[in-house]
Amino acid sequence: MKKNYYVTTPIYYVNASPHIGHAYTTIVADVLARYYHLSGFRTFFLTGTDEHGDKIAEAAQQAGVDPKTYADGISAQFRTLWPELSIKNDYFIRTTDENHVQVVRTILQKVYDTGDIYFGHYEGHYCVGCERFYMEKELVDGLCPDHQCEPEFRKESNYFFRMSRYQDWLIQYIQEHPDFIRPERYRNEALAFLREPLEDLCISRPKTRLTWGITLPFDDNYVTYVWFDALINYITGVGYPDGENFRTFWPVAEHLIAKDILKPHGIYWPTMLKAAGIEPYRHLNVHGYWNVDQSKMSKSLGNVVKPLDLKDKYGLDAFRYFLLRDMVFGLDSSFSEESFVQRVNADLANDLGNLISRVMAMALKYFDGAVPQPGATSDADQVFAATARRTLAEVEVCFQELALHKALMAIWGFISTANKFIVESEPWTLAKDHEQKDRLATVIYNLLEALRCIAVFIAPFIPDTAKKLLAHLGIDDPETQDFSTLQDWGRLPPGNPLKKIEALFPRIEVKKEEKMETQEKAAPSFKPEIAYEDFEKIDLRVARVLEAELVPKSSKLLKMKIDIGEERVIVAGMGKDYKPEEIVGKMIVVVANLKPTKLMGVESRGMLLATDTADGLTLLSFDRVPEAGAKVR
Ligand code: MSP
Repeated sequence: MKKNYYVTTPIYYVNASPHIGHAYTTIVADVLARYYHLSGFRTFFLTGTDEHGDKIAEAAQQAGVDPKTYADGISAQFRTLWPELSIKNDYFIRTTDENHVQVVRTILQKVYDTGDIYFGHYEGHYCVGCERFYMEKELVDGLCPDHQCEPEFRKESNYFFRMSRYQDWLIQYIQEHPDFIRPERYRNEALAFLREPLEDLCISRPKTRLTWGITLPFDDNYVTYVWFDALINYITGVGYPDGENFRTFWPVAEHLIAKDILKPHGIYWPTMLKAAGIEPYRHLNVHGYWNVDQSKMSKSLGNVVKPLDLKDKYGLDAFRYFLLRDMVFGLDSSFSEESFVQRVNADLANDLGNLISRVMAMALKYFDGAVPQPGATSDADQVFAATARRTLAEVEVCFQELALHKALMAIWGFISTANKFIVESEPWTLAKDHEQKDRLATVIYNLLEALRCIAVFIAPFIPDTAKKLLAHLGIDDPETQDFSTLQDWGRLPPGNPLKKIEALFPRIEVKKEEKMETQEKAAPSFKPEIAYEDFEKIDLRVARVLEAELVPKSSKLLKMKIDIGEERVIVAGMGKDYKPEEIVGKMIVVVANLKPTKLMGVESRGMLLATDTADGLTLLSFDRVPEAGAKVR
């Protein structure tokens, strides 16, 4: 029997146009739905818009239109944006939809009948931005901590939900289900709210003040308070009370939200469900905030980042990749165009783009446009195939933990293994020797199979690229390539036609002046941490260059004889940056224990260290003269 997976995003307020914060949550939901779908689950993905309440009524008034017309316009902006970002939601809910209005009224009546909704008087500080009352002690210097504005003092008779009654139940439930709210920091935050006595929740507004809401079924003079309306969308969307989808998907509901709306989702919603006799959702998954250039994104600061601007400028998959790779789920992240460009150039243009173009170019050149039939398998091939299976296991764990950035790191680890496999198996040398034709076919087959695996791995994250990559390999229906096809190596059919490669991720060129500025400001993208023991495995040594010459027929490769405590030959791609006579006599730093590799037929026993500058590569240098062979620490 198929397993089920249900993911939701918050339903977004229609008082402002979509920005990258909304796009991030919705893209994460899309990645999860795609991943579970490709892993054989039956999936349902819900998003939508939240359209009632003071906030929307005020925005409509300012725009000079009635609230419904106003909501229609902005809701459509969200609805039409998602397909442009390759987001495939199964349903788009609006709180003004008739079926939703009915479900809200049914739940209200149900809770009213059990005695958990009562009429009472209230006075307090109300923040329209948050659409909720604040306790005195929650305010910071008298201001709403989120909106930094003074809340209105409101005195009203209203209906209240007896939330206090469920406080002990909720504490116990969270304690017994440690990952009910995750990551842990947000579970702790929810438990911290619950250490204070829980007040009952005001759930209505008199029609004398607000008409833009759902009328209470038991009192025509009142409409519901926004949260009691909005949260219920998660069950309307799957057909509560009788729909088949409700039975299938509600027990496995995964809510995705940012930290701003933890309280309504972590406290109000489970208690509302309990009072209505509905089981709680499975997980509340809470992520951090995107800031822009280290500041909070806001209209008044004029730094709101619009998803379509980035898509149009850099391409959709670059945008999706950046958001997913640069945010650690649960923590805040800062967006800057510089770090965006840096990340896309390093990971997509260099690592992934180069691998695809190298492999496709070799396969097309040596094998007449079709996937070759592999020959006998070597140890190196088996190690390569095992890396793909290990990557799959890592990716699965990362999805369970919602560590999407780590899943991408694991996939990029496999991409780098594939790049190394090329260097180590030297297809260009094999191609020169007719007797090695079989081995060449096996090497190229393995590399093409690796591209197929990479296409499957990246499909949930950057689906358009995955589709194009599969098409290059002669696979036209991406749906045939689910995650189960990663279990065994060798699914790519020999004989499949190969297509000529189009550059998937051209390098983003930044003008030189801009680039210098960029380099100073951009957050560097470091490789994953390693243990000190791993670092110690690298034997870095000082070496003196004794002789140097260009490798015949190469304008770039320098062959050098070096003294590293013993004499050795190394080859480095420095020929464009240093003349042979310029480099002789220099003290350099060399990785001494790197496996030897052959470059244009010359064996290199070590690799020198250098860095990029605007004028080309430069060698590392010393302030004092060290001994050849000295350890670099
Ligand atoms: N309408 C309510 C939610 C009701 S859900 C039953 C609401 N709407 S909202 O338009 O303000 O959307 C808030 C959500 O948008 C956040 O929880 C998050 O998913 C997303 N984001 C908005 N700004 C964000 C950032 N700056 N960074 C990351 N995500 C953010 O609250």
